[in-house]
Amino acid sequence: MSDPIIHLTDLHAAYQRGRERVVALDGVSLTIERGEIFGLLGPNGAGKTTLLSILEGLLRPERGAAVLDGIDVLTNPQAAKARLGVQLQRSALLDDLTAVELVRLYAALYDVRLGRADAERLLAAFDLSAEAHAYARRLSGGQQQRLALALAVANDPQVVLLDEPTSALDPGARRVVWEMIRRFHSDGRTILLTTHAMEEAEALCSRVAIIHHGRIVACDTPAALIGRIDVQPVVKALLDLPLDRVAPLPGVRAARYTGAHLEVETADPQATLAALHTLAAEHHRPVGEIAIRPPNLEDVFLKLTGHSLS
Ligand SMILES: Nc1ncnc2c1ncn2[C@@H]1O[C@H](COP(=O)(O)OP(=O)(O)OP(=O)(O)O)[C@@H](O)[C@H]1O
Ligand SMILES: [Mg+2]
Repeated sequence: MSDPIIHLTDLHAAYQRGRERVVALDGVSLTIERGEIFGLLGPNGAGKTTLLSILEGLLRPERGAAVLDGIDVLTNPQAAKARLGVQLQRSALLDDLTAVELVRLYAALYDVRLGRADAERLLAAFDLSAEAHAYARRLSGGQQQRLALALAVANDPQVVLLDEPTSALDPGARRVVWEMIRRFHSDGRTILLTTHAMEEAEALCSRVAIIHHGRIVACDTPAALIGRIDVQPVVKALLDLPLDRVAPLPGVRAARYTGAHLEVETADPQATLAALHTLAAEHHRPVGEIAIRPPNLEDVFLKLTGHSLS
């Protein structure tokens, strides 16, 4: 049954940059159900942080409506704020406070009183017991990111907004953060996160909205997005061949380079694979790391926007 906790209707937002007006959101409507892990997936400048800023009461849209748990965010930002936990994209942790002091300060900002022991318990849940009394500036990048997550739930919010929670983390630290986000979810919270990593969206999110130039171009479960759009399996190879020779090979729908990898969308993976080997031999090119992969959200994004995510 539908039980939306976030309801955005036709949001328009713009910034003034000198004399230029930069449109950041161009008619965004979105409904997020209670208990979802919802992902906003889009490249740099798509409008992700702008959308979160409106929910956080930090930015007024030019028009449109934003309702959080039945509260109009634009007319009643204080009441809305009490339900929100926020991790900003560039969390400026106050360097001269310890982790425990920061947790208590963040809770207090939301009028929630946390004792020292409560703060230590919260930090322990984020594997930061040993760092509880260390200054924030002494923590590693991964520890700071975990601390930022702990701060986002210091006021025990119903809804947690996470702006690129795993940017700049190594794969191991990223997985730890994913586990923590899943725990927020099993605690009954609703999570709205932004990312430009499609594997993050696929791994975590119940539904994903693809945002591009301030518009939602698609919104569904990751599997449905991939299934609905006509994307083909991709042959991916570490291989250097002219694209105009690859394009006419059997089965090939599209060919491109992503970094050093040749990616070939194909309706007939086996035939394309064989033809690529023959073409590589003709060009005396070694074939490295060749594989067929199923279509993913990156392919969907490319199909919908004509651009790659990264
Ligand atoms: N304070 C600002 N002043 C002027 N323009 C801004 C400001 N903040 C964002 N913009 C512009 O608004 C658009 C949307 O920016 P936004 O920060 O919402 O994108 P984003 O999807 O969060 O990108 P990123 O992945 O890089 O964080 C961009 O064109 C950006 O340049
Ligand atoms: Mg952003």
